[in-house]
This record gives sequence, C-alpha cells and structure tokens, in this order.
Amino acid sequence: MNLDFLKDNKRTHYCGKLDNALIGQEICLCGWVHRRRDLGKLIFVQMRDVSGIVQVVFDSGTFADFAKVESLRAEYVIWLKGVVQSKGNSTSEVEVLASDILLLNTAPELPMQVNEGTMADEDIRLKYRYLDLRRPSLQRIIKTRSKIISKIRAFLDGQGFLEIETPILMKSTPEGARDYLVPSRLQHGKFFALPQSPQIYKQLLMISGFDKYYQIAKCFRDEDLRADRQPEFTQLDMEMSFVTQEDIFSINEQLFQHLFQEILCVKLADFPRLTYKQAMEDYGSDKPDMRFGMKLKNLSAVLQNSEFKVFASALQSGGSVRAVVATGCSAYSRKQIDEFVALAQHLGGKGLAHTKVVGDQLEGGVAKFLSSSEQSEILRVSEAQDGDLIFYASDTDKVVCKVLDGVRRKLGKQLGLCDDDRFAFAWITDFPLFEYDENDEKWVACHHMFTHPKQEHLQYFENEADYGKIEGMLYDLVCNGMEISSGSIRCHRADIQKKIFDLLGFGQEELEQKFGFFLEALKYGTPPHGGIAPGIDRLVMIMTKAASIRDVIAFPKTLKAVDLMSQSPSEVDTSQLEELGIEIKKKK
Ligand code: AMO
Ligand code: AMP
Repeated sequence: MNLDFLKDNKRTHYCGKLDNALIGQEICLCGWVHRRRDLGKLIFVQMRDVSGIVQVVFDSGTFADFAKVESLRAEYVIWLKGVVQSKGNSTSEVEVLASDILLLNTAPELPMQVNEGTMADEDIRLKYRYLDLRRPSLQRIIKTRSKIISKIRAFLDGQGFLEIETPILMKSTPEGARDYLVPSRLQHGKFFALPQSPQIYKQLLMISGFDKYYQIAKCFRDEDLRADRQPEFTQLDMEMSFVTQEDIFSINEQLFQHLFQEILCVKLADFPRLTYKQAMEDYGSDKPDMRFGMKLKNLSAVLQNSEFKVFASALQSGGSVRAVVATGCSAYSRKQIDEFVALAQHLGGKGLAHTKVVGDQLEGGVAKFLSSSEQSEILRVSEAQDGDLIFYASDTDKVVCKVLDGVRRKLGKQLGLCDDDRFAFAWITDFPLFEYDENDEKWVACHHMFTHPKQEHLQYFENEADYGKIEGMLYDLVCNGMEISSGSIRCHRADIQKKIFDLLGFGQEELEQKFGFFLEALKYGTPPHGGIAPGIDRLVMIMTKAASIRDVIAFPKTLKAVDLMSQSPSEVDTSQLEELGIEIKKKK
C-alpha cells in the first residue's frame, strides 16, 4: 500500500462518531478489524478506531472484491469507504454498507484477544501492552486520565499557578523510600538520584518568589510495590507561598469538586476532617474507608479485670482490646470466621476472637470466658445488636489497629458497603511528626523532614521523652480508604529546619553534605509556604473505578518493578559499565 493513498482518500469520519444525521452519506473510515462475523453472503465487520466501534456490512451481491473481505482477520488495519445506513433492528443505531476497502496492514495470530470480555493473564497483557491498550476498557481509562490532567492544568492556570519543570537528575536526598540512582560518566564515582518527589525543588521555587507552583511530576521510588503503588508514578505537585493549611484545603477541595463535576457529573460535598488520633481511634487507620460506619470500639476499660488470659495479658503489657461489630453476621459459619482469623494473623495479630449476639446475650467463641457483667458492658459500649457478630483483637495498639482495620475493610467489601459510585473524601490532620524506629533504634520522620511542627509543640524538641508528642502542620487527603494526597506547611526558617535534622540524628558533616545547599537557601528570605501532592494515578483509579494502579498507567511495571514488554531492567554492555567505572558483583 502506497502511503500517498491516504493523501487522496482522507478519513472523513471516526467509527464511534457516526449517527443518524449521516444516513445516506458516503464516508471514509480508518481503523482495525475488531471482530468479523461471516454469514456466507454477508460479512459483518466490527470496525474500531480511537473513538469507538461501528458495524460494517459487506454484501457479496454488491461488493466486488468479496475474497478480500473473507481474508480479513482480527486486528488487520483497513481503510474503508461506504454509505451510512440505519441498522435494521434499531432506529437510533447506524451501520456502514461498504463499497470499497483497502488493507493497510495485517497482523499474525494474536497472543491475546483484544475483542473479548475475558482477559488474558496479566503477564501476557503486560508483555503485549500495546495490544492490551487497544481494549476499549483500557482506552476509556487512558482517555479519562488525559482529560483529568488537562482539566487540572486549566483549573490551576486559572488560579494563577505557574507550571514549572524541575530536574529528573538530582541530588540523592533521603525522603523515605530508596532512591533510584544514576551513575555519572563525567563525574567519576558520583551519582544522581531520580526524584522521589520534587519536594526540595518546589520549596526552592518558593524561595525564588514564584508564589504558586504546580507540576505534573514523575516520581521514582524503589520500594515494595502494592496494588496502589508503582516504582514510577505521577503527582500533581503543588506549592504556595504565604498560605495557611486552610488555603491549601480550599484550593484542593475546589479542584476535586471541579474535576468530579466536569468528568463524572458528580457533585462532591465539602470534605469532612478528622484528626490522625480520631481516625486511628475510630477506624484503626490513617486512611479510613468512610463509605461505611462500623467504627472500632475500645473495650480496654471494660475488660480491665478480665480473666480471659489473651485479653488480660495484652492489657497488662499496655496494649488494648478493641472490637468491630459485624452487623447482622451472627450466622457466619466456622469457615467464614476462620477467614477473618487468617486475615488477622496475616496482618501480624496472634489471633482474632469472636462472639455472637443472640438476644441480649453473647454466645459462642470466647463468650464463655467473659463474665456476665463484662458481657453486658461489651454490649453497651459496642452498641452491638441481636444478630450481630463481634470480632475482638488484643495486642499492642499498633497491631490491634492494623488487624481491625483489615477486618473492617474485609467486612465492608463482603457486606457490599463499598459502593464504587460513592466518593468518601476526608482530610486527616494533626499527624505526629516523628516515630521511634525500634529496629534502627532512632527517631524517623513519619512523612518527610520539611514539615513545620505545630507552633505550640516546638517546646517538645527540648526533651527526647517528648519527641513522640510533636505534631506537624501535616495533612493527608483520603478517599474510599486510599491516601490520595499528602502535604504540609513547611519549615521556612533555617533554625527550625535544623532542629528537625538534629532530632533525626544527622551529624554536622552529613547534614552539610546532604542538605547544606538547602539550609543555605532557607537563610535568604524564605517566605512561609506549604503545599501538597495528589497522586494522579490513585485519583484516576478512583475516578475510573480501576482495581489496580497498573490499569491507569499506559506502560506500568509489575510488582517486581519489571517492564515485561521491553524486558527492563536489563543488562548493559561491559563498555558502558567500564565508562562509568562500575563492576557488577555476583550475587551471593
Ligand atoms: P507522599 O510521599 O505522601 O508526599 O506522596 C504524595 C502522594 O503520591 C502518591 N504516591 C504514590 N502513588 C503511586 N505509587 C507510589 N509508589 C506512590 N507513593 C506516593 C500518593 C500520595 O498521597 N513531597 C510530598 C508531598 C508534599 O509534602 O507536598 C510527597 O511526595 O497519592
Ligand atoms: P488461644 O488462647 O490461642 O486458644 O485463643 C483463644 C481465642 O482467642 C481464639 O479465638 C483466638 O483466635 C483468640 N485470640 C488469640 N490471640 C488473640 C489476640 N491477640 N487478639 C484477639 N483474639 C485472640
């Protein structure tokens, strides 16, 4: 086929855009054979392009070169001329009666079907990602993603934000996850890191006086991956000067309300707020799924003198006993309950106790270990009703919260309370700034190191016993149980920033080497500033109801951080390594 053909025979319409108004008109289409149905004298071809699918009819009575049509196979690329006509069985749909066809390209037998509801294994889909992306469901997601990004840009441009790019090759600065490193050829033995986020650069842009910055920024983190994590992902990175937390909440609520209205025609109400402490108390999680209730109930006080040794020992060692009431689940079978016990153990719990509520009594499970006054107190505090099932976890607060958060999420799914069409946003505020890492025996930042402590907590820097009490001007936005965004008001004063570095145990030399340039910059008239970074991939997941983050990224990596299509990462030539002065050690 000569490419000049398309010059003289231009596409006039898109497959998915044909309608009644075009009936009787001759048109030219370009696209793929989505499906072919051969009825002998008639052949129906579902023809697909970026806009959608239309049915094309080839009639052996009127179509000259019928053999050509018989040779068409799935995913062949065709140019087609025909006349739009009404589809026999319906008044609203149209089809095309073909008069001419040109084969633009062929395809061998496909390793995965593009036109079927049943999906190939994900490994095959990722290996042939370009075919996978032809599937209408992925096309829809990728198009919505593009629309979301374009609406974000228009909205923020309208609010006076400047879009500024920041380097991809940058200095390695500890930010939580492991860095991806890039060796330098010209500076022998030295490395760049890929940004975990543009955090330091966006703060430097505030120091430079740009006032309101945003960027659709690629971030890179070498960390353990999950259903909502990729090694390479995209943030809407934002930073503003002379603002309070309220200003940042307000612009983000407006942005999200705008996006949901424009793209999904959904009106979002103002976002509720919850402190970190309250979120942990009520849901055992700092990213609670607030589409449903079933809040955790703290039974520690009620069970203070319990003779049941599992509860007693946790309470004696400073832990807690908490419960989740599974509404209407008292008929759960042994097998169903065991699934929850297995989940609790998977999440680090030693077990998961249960009792049923029958009338105003507790029965089954650990009921026999509970005195009648304990039982009635449990019913009072938990507000459990006849027909409910109560799950109990006892351990350190941390483990109890983790277990019951998992139990609650599983119940929510199982009981059909996690409706994808509902969007339960909430701000989580007042996070602690630091936590003690028992393994490394040192204090670490819960978020990143640049957050301003609450003004009234600056006094706690004096005494290590108080470090855990320091809360930051730090906030997350969650939706349907997922962390969508995270941000903070930053330290704009070098002395306060230094206090944080000191607390985290950076020695003078290390500090100078890693952050010297930044501490220096902070000295030169840094405005008060703060920001946030919504994860675009997660936002797209929620807006398109995608189950996996891999479905919202055109070319994602597997859970092992591999690109199955290009087989990367891959080995490189020895000469490349030599230039970089790198030698690969054999793994032991
Ligand atoms: P943080 O590290 O919390 O904050 O990231 C902000 C948001 O980015 C998304 N996100 C991810 N998405 C996919 N895969 C990942 N591996 C991944 N990691 C994070 C989440 C998260 O809420 N510089 C700060 C922001 C700030 O303080 O302004 C930062 O990067 O949606
Ligand atoms: P055991 O004493 O191990 O036989 O456990 C008795 C009951 O308590 C079983 O239902 C266990 O699943 C449950 N159980 C064990 N450890 C815990 C725990 N840490 N929290 C809640 N229930 C537990």
